[in-house]
Amino acid sequence: MHIVYYSNVTKNTERFVAKLGLPATRIEAGVPEPSIAIIPTYGDAAVPVVVLKALKDKADRDNIVAIIGAGNMNFGRNYCAGARKLATKLGVPVIYEFELQGTPEDVREALAAIDTFTTELAKETA
Ligand SMILES: Cc1cc2nc3c(=O)[nH]c(=O)nc-3n(C[C@H](O)[C@H](O)[C@H](O)COP(=O)(O)O)c2cc1C
Repeated sequence: MHIVYYSNVTKNTERFVAKLGLPATRIEAGVPEPSIAIIPTYGDAAVPVVVLKALKDKADRDNIVAIIGAGNMNFGRNYCAGARKLATKLGVPVIYEFELQGTPEDVREALAAIDTFTTELAKETA
């Protein structure tokens, strides 16, 4: 499954994406094929503006099949809230959430969640 992601100056999300070892491109480059979006939250449960701009065309939005949220638990109930907000807006599930650049366990669990989701999706569309 292809990954599209957003990552700002601290590049936490970019480092996590690199550890997954899956084909991945920045969301700013568009979403030309079915993809899982990995999205950090920045304040007030917000979806980063860059992400909203990248998804202004329906064709790109429709290619997001699931979301993985990135965040920091210090933000309490707003932990990964932007990812959840985007998932609700797009009508797709959040299949995993992790903090900062993720632990080795996060990498294993995210890959397992992607695998399970991709298998289910293939069954639905078969
Ligand atoms: C100004 C600011 C606001 C943030 N707000 C939230 C938040 O509401 N919820 C959350 O889970 N994480 C929040 N974070 C944490 C980031 O999502 C986290 O550091 C993430 O790893 C950043 O990814 P990046 O380095 O790839 O941009 C915030 C970080 C900053 C700098």
